Amino acid sequence: MSRLLLLNKINKYYSINSVSMQVLHDIDLLVEKGESLALVGESGSGKTTLSRIILGLTQPDSGDISWGDNEIRPKVSAVFQNPKDAMNPRKRIWESIAEPLIINEKKRVNYFREKCLRIASEVGLEKNLIDRFPFELSGGQIQRAVIARALIVMPDLVILDEPTSALDISVQAKIINLLIDLQIEYNLTYIFITHDLQLVHYLAKKIFVLKNGKCVEKGEIKDVFSKPNNLYTRKLLEAGGVINIP
Ligand SMILES: Nc1ncnc2c1ncn2[C@@H]1O[C@H](COP(=O)(O)OP(=O)(O)OP(=O)(O)O)[C@@H](O)[C@H]1O
Ligand SMILES: [Mg+2]
Repeated sequence: MSRLLLLNKINKYYSINSVSMQVLHDIDLLVEKGESLALVGESGSGKTTLSRIILGLTQPDSGDISWGDNEIRPKVSAVFQNPKDAMNPRKRIWESIAEPLIINEKKRVNYFREKCLRIASEVGLEKNLIDRFPFELSGGQIQRAVIARALIVMPDLVILDEPTSALDISVQAKIINLLIDLQIEYNLTYIFITHDLQLVHYLAKKIFVLKNGKCVEKGEIKDVFSKPNNLYTRKLLEAGGVINIP
């Protein structure tokens, strides 16, 4: 596998009421092409902040980010937790799905609709739904549309920040299976943020554990799950029901 992303000593501070708080401490992270990395840790541990830094939406205070071998920034897409917030309520679904293309390419409307129809069928979104508005779709249908929008640019990396936690249990399983199928089909690279350690087991090959903005453990899932080195990871895995250590 080849290197897609390398974070080197990333630090981030937020200032709240003029008090500076460090939310990420010296984060080193390697993501290789085609792999699926789970980013886990309790609420407030810095997962979303780290993903926003990778997306270029938030600037780190120090540290380096390098991409691939030639330093050209690859395409990074994101799927966030709440599908309803992710779509513009005044735009038809197809326009939102095609938006990342429309911003970058000058083409006729039909070109974008065609691309949109193709990707919608890949994510299991029925054809007739793409002309509706978000309020006319279910949560699961919107999340399929959000995934379609993330994939329409053929991204090098997809960041999935709790992509199923706002959905019903039955819909969650379908979306997770869809994400796994898409990863195999397109050799996608995922950073998967979740609280659900059962899902991690199912979906990812590597795990990165954050606690209070620090990496406390990282490695292959099979190694970390069978023999966590860190006490916090062990507690997290026990609480998540994925290990049972006497
Ligand atoms: N824009 C901001 N301004 C100030 N503080 C922030 C900001 N965004 C996040 N924080 C703080 O940074 C810390 C890390 O937040 P972050 O959203 O990265 O956590 P998280 O691991 O994604 O949590 P969750 O699992 O609840 O989504 C928290 O203490 C949070 O309050
Ligand atoms: Mg978060």
